[in-house]
Amino acid sequence: MEQQGFTIWFTGLSGAGKTSISDAIEPLLRERGLRKIEKLDGDVVRTHLSKGLGFSKEDRDTNIRRIGWVAEVLTRNGVCVLASAISPYREIRDEVRRNVGDFVEVYVKCSIAELTRRDVKGLYQKALNGEIQNFTGISDPYEEPLHPEVTVDTEAEDLGESVSKVLAALEERGYIPVAATA
Ligand code: ADX
Repeated sequence: MEQQGFTIWFTGLSGAGKTSISDAIEPLLRERGLRKIEKLDGDVVRTHLSKGLGFSKEDRDTNIRRIGWVAEVLTRNGVCVLASAISPYREIRDEVRRNVGDFVEVYVKCSIAELTRRDVKGLYQKALNGEIQNFTGISDPYEEPLHPEVTVDTEAEDLGESVSKVLAALEERGYIPVAATA
């Protein structure tokens, strides 16, 4: 049977866990029989397709529209796309949603206090010190999704719980088969 394409779009602040959740879900989707899966990660896309773009609103919008366009083309061709980028602007996310059609938005939520505590890349401290300008959540906006299909709270849940929530939403919508119970 031809695989039904769809895009899982992870949005949220830097360090909230978008990539970790996406990485954890990929092998589980393969276990459910999905064969065509592609990951589009903001950090990675910025090293080639979006190389040279910065973090102004205009550059972020361009970055998201590029990722969105690739997600659209892949989805149309029966691929499951795991896209993760801050994607701070609601209007552009909703534009991508319309273009992709089969679109599952996952809001990866975490407070600034917790992100500053984790600070995996050391960027929050730099942003707070004013060494990085226009840093999302500190000195640049992040517009929360109003009606995401899934919200995961990585401060309150462990990785397994967040992953389960996403899988349940995919099952509900018929994108993946329900897991066989032992
Ligand atoms: S987006 O806004 O265009 O969606 P994207 O997800 O591709 O952003 O890239 C975000 C990553 O770039 C962050 O995880 C962080 O490592 C890095 N980064 C560097 N400068 C900034 C900044 N000013 N704001 C947010 N992230 C930044």
